[in-house]
Amino acid sequence: MWAALLPIGRDAATGGYHRFAWTPAELDCRAWFLGEAAGRGMELEQDRNGNLFAWWNPAGAAPGLPGGAGVVTGSHLDSVPGGGAFDGPLGVVSALAAIDLMRARDVRPVRAIGVAVFAEEEGARFGVACLGSRLLTGAIDPRRARDLRDAGGIGFGEALARDDGGWAAGSTLRPGGLDPAAIGRDEELLSRIGCFVELHVEQGRAMDAPVGVASAIWPHGRWRFDFAGHGNHAGTTRLGDRRDPMLPFAHTVIEARAAAERHDSLATVGKVTVVPGGVNAIPSRVTAWLDARGPDDRAVRRTVEEIGRAAELAAEDHGVTVRLGEESYTAVVAFNTALRDRLADVIASAGSARPPVLPTGAGHDAGILSAHLPTAMLFVRNPTGVSHAPEEHAEVADCLAGVEALAAVLQDLACDESPEQAHYG
Ligand code: HGY
Ligand code: MN
Ligand code: MN
Repeated sequence: MWAALLPIGRDAATGGYHRFAWTPAELDCRAWFLGEAAGRGMELEQDRNGNLFAWWNPAGAAPGLPGGAGVVTGSHLDSVPGGGAFDGPLGVVSALAAIDLMRARDVRPVRAIGVAVFAEEEGARFGVACLGSRLLTGAIDPRRARDLRDAGGIGFGEALARDDGGWAAGSTLRPGGLDPAAIGRDEELLSRIGCFVELHVEQGRAMDAPVGVASAIWPHGRWRFDFAGHGNHAGTTRLGDRRDPMLPFAHTVIEARAAAERHDSLATVGKVTVVPGGVNAIPSRVTAWLDARGPDDRAVRRTVEEIGRAAELAAEDHGVTVRLGEESYTAVVAFNTALRDRLADVIASAGSARPPVLPTGAGHDAGILSAHLPTAMLFVRNPTGVSHAPEEHAEVADCLAGVEALAAVLQDLACDESPEQAHYG
């Protein structure tokens, strides 16, 4: 499975991935998933928001019937620009492999087991992270989502409606072809998800064990800075006559680092666009995006406030205007403690040592779902902690330990005949 997915959307020169939501590379990843799931006789579903689900439900469980709501696992297949191979795909491949393992052991789940592939988790194309899971849960206004545009001006609604994605062998479903007017919270689907467990490569070099359990996700958000100045000739405009937006932008980047150090938070400016972008032209506009995260909401808010203030002062100094807008914000996520502890117990009793329980600064669809249903995460060790870069890596032995842990957890949850959800706490 891994070998079949690996080459899709990979840049041969850098080894990084470019799998942006609803582009050919990511549609091919979706087709890969649908083909693998169809090959396992799983029931395929594309929800109104473009998220994919594959169901293994031998007992015919459903809300209101014996077995009730299902146990869902999975992750995402889209990437950041130049991302690594594991962020997202490891959770999807491990979910399918865990089902293979359970079937080989003749496990008979009384609850449905679902594998989810959430759309646009990285927000790399339309700018809002976890867009698919935010739409599913109602965490974003569908009108705002429909208006999101990519760098080429294509709207999210338009991308969702296209149905030129590839058919997967054996699949009864082709990605896309959705109605943009229908996107939004899906109560019926949410009622079929009793709990969600996402396996993900760890992204911070924080583990000395092959598998860990998440305790929390740091608060984090994205802000957009629009600096507007006066485009002009680089060779004939005196310094005193310039209104160059590049200068307050540069000052803001430096101040972002200083503010993060003051508040023990993290601040990154990783994306900037310059108009017109000519070597010999003073820019008229510079747009930059800030990613800020921290141990608590207050640290993040103070960091962003100070960066915003510095941007305003620097803009004034250069006769430039600046507009600051919040694009997305996720408050601190504390995962369901009963489910968290249950996962740690199951992994410990499955023969390996008790797994570490740790927070992460990386956002995940599990973080969005956590506000709506019992949710937990498993981490697979990343020896270097490098992520969102081609060097992202996890050892095969640790990935297999992740599959074993996920299979044990899914078996524990999906074979549990106690009353509906009572045991999630
Ligand atoms: O940005 C994040 O933390 C995640 O990778 N979407
Ligand atoms: Mn990521
Ligand atoms: Mn991810």
